[in-house]
Amino acid sequence: MPLLLCHSPKGGTGTSFIAAHLAMHLASQGHDVVALDFTYQDSLKLFFGLLPAQPLAEFHGSHGSALAVSGVEIFSAHQLAHEPAFIAALQAGRSPFDDGKVYVADVAAGDRNTRDLLLPHAHLRVCTLLPHPISLAALTKVQAGKPTVELSNTAFILNQLDDTHRFSRHAHIFLRELLGDALIGTVRRDEAVNEAAAMFEPISKYAPASAALSDMRAVAKAIAGRADIAQATDQLS
Ligand SMILES: Nc1ncnc2c1ncn2[C@@H]1O[C@H](COP(=O)(O)OP(=O)(O)O)[C@@H](O)[C@H]1O
Ligand SMILES: [Mg+2]
Repeated sequence: MPLLLCHSPKGGTGTSFIAAHLAMHLASQGHDVVALDFTYQDSLKLFFGLLPAQPLAEFHGSHGSALAVSGVEIFSAHQLAHEPAFIAALQAGRSPFDDGKVYVADVAAGDRNTRDLLLPHAHLRVCTLLPHPISLAALTKVQAGKPTVELSNTAFILNQLDDTHRFSRHAHIFLRELLGDALIGTVRRDEAVNEAAAMFEPISKYAPASAALSDMRAVAKAIAGRADIAQATDQLS
């Protein structure tokens, strides 16, 4: 630890976008950050400005050599999530994330096995929602069998907020009432996110004054505070 587990019960909400920016923000604050892409889609790297064809090293503990972008070591971890030794170690309570680095894990919406494997080791789960009825309907699936409002250690982000749309405004009000402080922040809908990815550039380079980037920085700061990253890394290093 600290492991920040980015997972949403609904795909396409911006989990990879948030994970990448969380990692970059923490690196900019001087932390040693490792971003682990547990998805088969392999799209986390696109938010760092990498090309789709750019291969990533597989994560096998923190000793391997990784590609570093914006101060973040980026690994693929899709294979790892299926390795019996890794699964057994995590299930036995042994964590490969206890080395003072900050790990940001991007886990696909449908991959409940990996979510459940990592969750007991996570400092904080980060769940991204959209102001869409389909995303809100999936709230009950964040952790089956447990009411969303009772989830400890979970921070929610409302992404792609657009105050010019009535449903978006109402969804924000609803979530604020439902989740209270667990709704850690909002990120505005901003075409610069897609344009930057299309240009294979990080948004900080493509559109440094963009609304999404400024919102994302505020959200990342709030998450770092909630997860007490500074204290957690001090204890471990
Ligand atoms: N704040 C935003 N404004 C506009 N587009 C966004 C924003 N956040 C994410 N996107 C776009 O939404 C799509 C899904 O994002 P992604 O992070 O891949 O979702 P997930 O990992 O949840 O499947 C991508 O095309 C991404 O560029
Ligand atoms: Mg994704």
